[in-house]
Amino acid sequence: MQTLAVASEIYPLVKTGGLADVTGALPKVMERFGVSTRTLVPGYPSLLALARLHPPLLEFDDLLGHRAFLRHLEIEGLSLFVLDAPALYERDGGPYVDGNGVDHPDNWKRFAVLCLAAAEIASGVMPGWKPDLVHLHDWQAALTAVYMRNMQCKVPTLLTIHNIAFQGQFSAEVLPEIGLPPDVFTTDCLEYFGDICYLKGGLTTTDHITVVSPTYAREILSPAFGMGLDGVLRGRIDCLDGIVNGIDGDIWNPATDPYLPFRYDVRSLRRKKQNKAMLLERFGLDAGAGPLFSTVTRITWQKGMDMLAEVADEIFHWGGRLIVLGQGDHEIEAALKCAAQRFPGKMAVSIGYNEPTAHLLHGGSDSIIQPSRFEPCGLTQLYALRYGCVPVVARTGGLSETIIDANDAALSARAATGFQFHPVTADGLRQAIRRAARSYRDQRDWTRLQTQAMRANYGWERSAETYAALYRRLIN
Ligand code: ADP
Ligand code: GLC
Repeated sequence: MQTLAVASEIYPLVKTGGLADVTGALPKVMERFGVSTRTLVPGYPSLLALARLHPPLLEFDDLLGHRAFLRHLEIEGLSLFVLDAPALYERDGGPYVDGNGVDHPDNWKRFAVLCLAAAEIASGVMPGWKPDLVHLHDWQAALTAVYMRNMQCKVPTLLTIHNIAFQGQFSAEVLPEIGLPPDVFTTDCLEYFGDICYLKGGLTTTDHITVVSPTYAREILSPAFGMGLDGVLRGRIDCLDGIVNGIDGDIWNPATDPYLPFRYDVRSLRRKKQNKAMLLERFGLDAGAGPLFSTVTRITWQKGMDMLAEVADEIFHWGGRLIVLGQGDHEIEAALKCAAQRFPGKMAVSIGYNEPTAHLLHGGSDSIIQPSRFEPCGLTQLYALRYGCVPVVARTGGLSETIIDANDAALSARAATGFQFHPVTADGLRQAIRRAARSYRDQRDWTRLQTQAMRANYGWERSAETYAALYRRLIN
């Protein structure tokens, strides 16, 4: 089976979050289930240098007024179609923002062009290659389903929502410029509170929808989590599933991780302490017996980082220390920095995006905190499990179903892997930190939790098998 995936990020070439981890890992595992994937991605500078070494596969002479080349790139077990349209994608900054962190004003066009190219590939514009199914990821790819319907292309489509908070909502004024007929501007397609919404267009036209955990699939049917699209989703409930993400065990493995000075596995867990000592020194924190908590995250309201700033003192009360790595909302960043100033030697904040440091924090911390207000799946807590960092998580979305709370029953069944809290409030988080810090005092209990966490199996196999079965169902 051949599939075309469409995505705006893919690890290791371009990543702002978990979406890239998923699109970079899933195709490799799907091979084992007889699915061969080619992923269409925009030709960002990080891809072009490599992709331009070979002649183009194809030329598009008019994608919404842009000439573009389709290039092929095989890298790290991935097979990519790179859309080389320099005026749209060959820019400084990230995949969505300029060098100052401001959204590119023409994102509506950049991702419409990506989707139009995808729809043309699905329709068979490429000599010798046509997909049996098209798998779209998030709003940036969602419009593909609308273009395909418009072209009467019958190849089945699957749209995966990684985070419904990001919807691709734009002024209806751009509608005449995205190459779709005016009749898509209806409430059962693109129209959205007077604007147009790419995700809504995808949700209403795709054959099937998945989100990244079964719990999130239920949550987004409610106004509190559906963020304006819950009604649309309720209308498509028969085509909606949740499939939890896995982790790429080659990249996230404490026994082989090149970023760790001291590598370890479940039998040599003691070595983790040496990473911890190194981390404390590097971040200028006090050495001492208490637990080291960390967080590696986008610093946003979604991730509950404002609550962490508010209750960090609870960690220090128990002799613990805290390292925050992330970037995002400037106000919350400032609140975290302010907390770190109040607690010198106890708390450090590193603003920025840094892959090696992320690995090191998993390799040396005792616990990873994820107080998300909503979390479609979450990957950080899965990496934490593998690295023997006991996660402290909010009971929501994927967090609620990947972490087993250390309650009495789970402890006596030797199944517990972390600490959950609910309601998701600062006070709830404070209590969860307290539970974790107390547990840490008994090193035998703690080691047991770590071991159970490390043995939890969150590889991709099971979910990839579910995706493969779904693909087959849609094709037949
Ligand atoms: P989301 O996609 O909502 O941000 P996930 O938990 O699914 O959350 O995935 C986040 C991914 O981004 C993980 O791979 C995590 O390690 C990585 N990440 C987040 N912030 C940073 C950062 N500041 N530096 C390095 N990696 C980060
Ligand atoms: C989104 C979600 C996150 C999920 C990731 C990958 O960014 O916020 O929960 O793990 O996508 O699916």
